[in-house]
Amino acid sequence: MSKVILDACCGSRMCWFDKEHPAAVYMDCRELETELCDGRKLVIRPDVVGDFRAMPFADCSFRLVVFDPPHLRWCGEGSWMKAKYGQLNRETWQDDLRRGFAECFRVLMPHGVLVFKWNERQVKLNEVVKLAPMPPLFGQRAGKTHWLVFMKPMPEALEHPGMDEEQAQETVCALENVVHDLVHGKTHAPSQVLQSRDFDIE
Ligand SMILES: C[S@@+](CC[C@H](N)C(=O)[O-])C[C@H]1O[C@@H](n2cnc3c(N)ncnc32)[C@H](O)[C@@H]1O
Repeated sequence: MSKVILDACCGSRMCWFDKEHPAAVYMDCRELETELCDGRKLVIRPDVVGDFRAMPFADCSFRLVVFDPPHLRWCGEGSWMKAKYGQLNRETWQDDLRRGFAECFRVLMPHGVLVFKWNERQVKLNEVVKLAPMPPLFGQRAGKTHWLVFMKPMPEALEHPGMDEEQAQETVCALENVVHDLVHGKTHAPSQVLQSRDFDIE
């Protein structure tokens, strides 16, 4: 099975049923092996050590991306929460997450799916969803934890086979522009709509 799934910040892979899924690439910015205060082992051993703000993958590489970034702005230096979940940078977290979302969409194939997880214990989902370049399709909340599902758009023409040479060229350019804009943090129409209203999921 080829590697069609990316977990962009896998941590210890707690959310995976199969923690060695053959179709998945597990990425994290840390490698860590430690013991938590309750004696349990915490092992973070990604396939790829990388930064979700600048992923080491080509455009359009994956069908499914999982994005579960750190959600804590404040936590104790030696706390188990920090060991397990990492921590947001207090000054740059919004830009970091914006870049992370853009990278997720860049490495997704058109019509690829992004699954985003967020715990709003410290930062409301409203504040975070605005950093994505487009709105989610739907989501689910369990307590303070949200799961949102996005789909990377495809230029309309690509959905209709049988186009001539000129249309095909225009389509490729349009797709390149979407990817370029996402990488450089430019938003497209749906997210402008999103930013102008109060996004709330109950
Ligand atoms: C909420 S945890 C992920 C938990 C994981 N989904 C699980 O099921 O165990 C967030 C992870 O993001 C990682 N992380 C933080 N900043 C990152 C970055 N810039 N690039 C990649 N990973 C990052 C942290 O090391 C941490 O392991």
